[in-house]
Amino acid sequence: MSDTVDDVDLPYDEDEASQQEKIQSLEEQLEILEAQNEEMRDKLLDANAENNKYQQKLERLTHENKKLKQSPLFVATVQEITDEGVIIKQHGNNQEALTEVTDELRKEIDPDDRVAVNNSLSIVKSLSSETDVRARVMEVTESPEVSYEDIGGLEEQMQEVRETVEMPLEKPEMFDDVGIDPPSGVLLYGPPGTGKTMLAKAVANQTDATFIKMAGSELVHKFIGEGAKLVRDLFKVAREHEPAVIFIDEIDAIAAKRTESKTSGDAEVQRTMMQLLSEMDGFEERGEIRIIAATNRFDMLDRAILRPGRFDRLIEVPKPNEEGREIIFEIHTRGMNVADDVDFAELAEEAEEASGADVKAVCTEAGMFAIRDERTEIRMDDFRNAWKKVQADSDETEDVSKTFA
Ligand SMILES: Nc1ncnc2c1ncn2[C@@H]1O[C@H](COP(=O)(O)OP(=O)(O)OP(=O)(O)O)[C@@H](O)[C@H]1O
Ligand SMILES: [Mg+2]
Repeated sequence: MSDTVDDVDLPYDEDEASQQEKIQSLEEQLEILEAQNEEMRDKLLDANAENNKYQQKLERLTHENKKLKQSPLFVATVQEITDEGVIIKQHGNNQEALTEVTDELRKEIDPDDRVAVNNSLSIVKSLSSETDVRARVMEVTESPEVSYEDIGGLEEQMQEVRETVEMPLEKPEMFDDVGIDPPSGVLLYGPPGTGKTMLAKAVANQTDATFIKMAGSELVHKFIGEGAKLVRDLFKVAREHEPAVIFIDEIDAIAAKRTESKTSGDAEVQRTMMQLLSEMDGFEERGEIRIIAATNRFDMLDRAILRPGRFDRLIEVPKPNEEGREIIFEIHTRGMNVADDVDFAELAEEAEEASGADVKAVCTEAGMFAIRDERTEIRMDDFRNAWKKVQADSDETEDVSKTFA
């Protein structure tokens, strides 16, 4: 752009007419130059736009290149968070490592969380959302807060569970000496609210074993298509936490009899059960992991689950007898302000057919009656009224279930 207006020589010493002519031609030249200028500006804009496009492309390629060069992340489990760093255990090779973590991430992670680590084993992010999914069906506790003293009227059952679960964990050499394999699984069965879940928890408490609880119904209903994987995970978690007690509550949900109908839901339950059976069959060193299962629908169980080497020890947990009910009343009123006129033997006699859970409900209701009456002491009448209420409530739910049946 060399020819600008400045380059044009200004005319002087001319007459009026030629002056006029010159101005005319200058104006024309100016117009041409302006048009040229406009054109150039347009070209410049076009070039700029083009440049922008290439710039974007370059950025995209750089980003892709970086991603391709970046190494994959590995999954590890947090073992311990110490002042020196975080101890992680890598999945796959099971090696432990001490690693660094940013303060921000440190707040986010807890032991047993799954995390992603890079090549140099620094924690990149926490994978707790995945763990949450598993945690919803799988509850891992070091020691549940139920002890044998909290359970009434199940002495025989308690003895049997201890023999089959506690003994192999605590004295595996006894079984070696005698030369038998301890039963791998114990199945507790009986009506609702009789203390099956409690019993399993008490065993875990007694043995200092990690207690891993999985509810069969949740496994089937919430994780359609994932049942078999969750069972695999369950045993994997148990192996990582040995000694461990695996407790599968409501096992009927995953180990129901094969039915005629061939809906996809059934196939899914079947796959879940097959996985469970194969995990149980695959038990080599049996001392370190014990399995307890519970059901209140024994009639529904597939017999395959009861074969030797699987749940071969069946323990019936019935409703408590009168003596049992009396003990359960005593257990649940331990912390309560009970009047002198309260006679648990008499209450136990009256509350026929009550399960352990019913007895507990009676105690709580009795307390509510006292509170409603603005008393702090609970009387015999409160317990009697409470039993009436609990009975009426359970009749009601029975009616409701009949309506829906
Ligand atoms: N034998 C018992 N001794 C003391 N309390 C009991 C007993 N049985 C039941 N209970 C009370 O009832 C509650 C429910 O018991 P638990 O969950 O163990 O029943 P369950 O047999 O597992 O029932 P479900 O078959 O419905 O799962 C317990 O938390 C406890 O308070
Ligand atoms: Mg239960």
